[in-house]
Amino acid sequence: MCNLNFSNSDISISDMNLEDLEILKDDLITSFDDFWNYDILKSELLSGNSKYIIAKLNDNIVGFAGLKLILDEAEIMNIVVKKSFRYHGIGSLLMQKLFSICNDLNISVINLEVNECNVYAINLYKKFGFKVVGFRKNYYNNGNGAILMKRGRSFNP
Ligand SMILES: CC(C)(COP(=O)(O)OP(=O)(O)OC[C@H]1O[C@@H](n2cnc3c(N)ncnc32)[C@H](O)[C@@H]1OP(=O)(O)O)[C@@H](O)C(=O)NCCC(=O)NCCS
Repeated sequence: MCNLNFSNSDISISDMNLEDLEILKDDLITSFDDFWNYDILKSELLSGNSKYIIAKLNDNIVGFAGLKLILDEAEIMNIVVKKSFRYHGIGSLLMQKLFSICNDLNISVINLEVNECNVYAINLYKKFGFKVVGFRKNYYNNGNGAILMKRGRSFNP
């Protein structure tokens, strides 16, 4: 049983490395959703134009998020919180850290795509100032469309 008596100050956010990914490996699908698999994450971590972070609570990884960096633009590739820890502010902490990274790197715009049915993620992005700028029909394997969202600098939560 998870102890969800934690506050924001108990969560530490740091860069994600290959060692972290090995720790996550067996947990990825069962505890975090089948959004990203190990091989894709590994190639992202090894690529020079990505930036990944993890959230830890008592040394356990409870969330991660990643950006792809293209010139002065960034794309949010994923932001995922461990199922049993959701809706307790960890996604917001990860988003704040992504914003701070983008500010440090002088990124001028952050883009993302989100499944039209993913209400929680859409809420999170809107809360952080992202605006809908487009829609791609039948974008996902199940026929769902993708909402395209964008946020310009500066990236203050
Ligand atoms: C989207 C996700 C990362 C949010 O993380 P989280 O830790 O639950 O988010 P927070 O607790 O910080 O909530 C931030 C905001 O997200 C939205 N949100 C998150 N969970 C929600 C829920 N169950 N119901 C409604 N809104 C929700 C709200 O706008 C919330 O702000 P509020 O507290 O003012 O209502 C998490 O739900 C998740 O991991 N989902 C699966 C992965 C995913 O879909 N990622 C996005 C695409 S890669």
